Amino acid sequence: MRPKVLVTRQIFDEALNLLGKHFEVESNQRDLPPTQPQLLKKLQGKQGAVTLVACTFDERLLAQCPDLRIVSNVAVGYNNIDVKAATRRGVMVTNTPGVLDDTTADFTWCLMLATARRLVEGDKFFRTGKWKGWGLMQYLGYDVHHKTLGIFGLGRIGKAVARRAKGFDMRAIYYDTARVDESTERDLGVMYVDKRTLLRESDFVTLHVPLLPETHHFISHAELALMKKSAILVNASRGPVVDEKALVKALKDGKIAGAGLDVYEKEPKCERALVGMKNVVLAPHTASASYETRAKMAMIAVQNCIAGLTGQRPPNLLNPEVMGR
Ligand code: GLV
Repeated sequence: MRPKVLVTRQIFDEALNLLGKHFEVESNQRDLPPTQPQLLKKLQGKQGAVTLVACTFDERLLAQCPDLRIVSNVAVGYNNIDVKAATRRGVMVTNTPGVLDDTTADFTWCLMLATARRLVEGDKFFRTGKWKGWGLMQYLGYDVHHKTLGIFGLGRIGKAVARRAKGFDMRAIYYDTARVDESTERDLGVMYVDKRTLLRESDFVTLHVPLLPETHHFISHAELALMKKSAILVNASRGPVVDEKALVKALKDGKIAGAGLDVYEKEPKCERALVGMKNVVLAPHTASASYETRAKMAMIAVQNCIAGLTGQRPPNLLNPEVMGR
């Protein structure tokens, strides 16, 4: 009998067809996120799951899916999956690193530029038909070029963001738990600083850290208080890295100038106050959403699943401890 695989949300036909060549596939092409009970029901008898980040594979769910052997995430971040619990049960977990770095870095700049230059506000105003022509004082924003960019997390995406800063003649500083080697710093044109210095000196603070217990609310009241009043915060990492309530307060109190957000603490919702703020740009978790990159992510996830269920080591296995058990 062919192994059975659940695809929890809509993916590209090409990826789905490839999966179908190997397995019996059930796919949720309606693209509404299943509730946990629905997900649990659909996973019964399935050996594989190809899933998006909006589906949670926690201990409770995994405990009730004894047939499951692989959870293949169509994302680089995998905080939606309890990897430790999966490992305990011998379930492989995979992700899609590498292919989305440049696309996510591009989008980080979209957020930075759109927020600093009030692009969304201007677009909305233009569409009202009320614009009476060029005005010196209209929609003034902040320059990006020649400013200081503070990057938290100099992994693959952080580095791609840093490379783009060169084209804007920016001073780029970064903080990470580990410093990269000097030649990488030189190539990227970045300087290592501590967390406080980064917050105090940056005109733009951008987050590229994974969501871990240590990075939960990495930016909260104390951090926002250290930032410049003219600074803009950009988050295309994971929502809970920023304390959203603290962010709302900082924006209301004028402690920072604006925020460009792609991710939220409780997706698909965000703190209501953010929706009414003109100095905030809100994207629906689309940093990696280019046709090219999302198609590659889906293919990689499917290839990971095929490898895992045909006795090979998946290329992007996050818990190699499960192999050979
Ligand atoms: C998307 O958020 C990803 O982690 O790839």
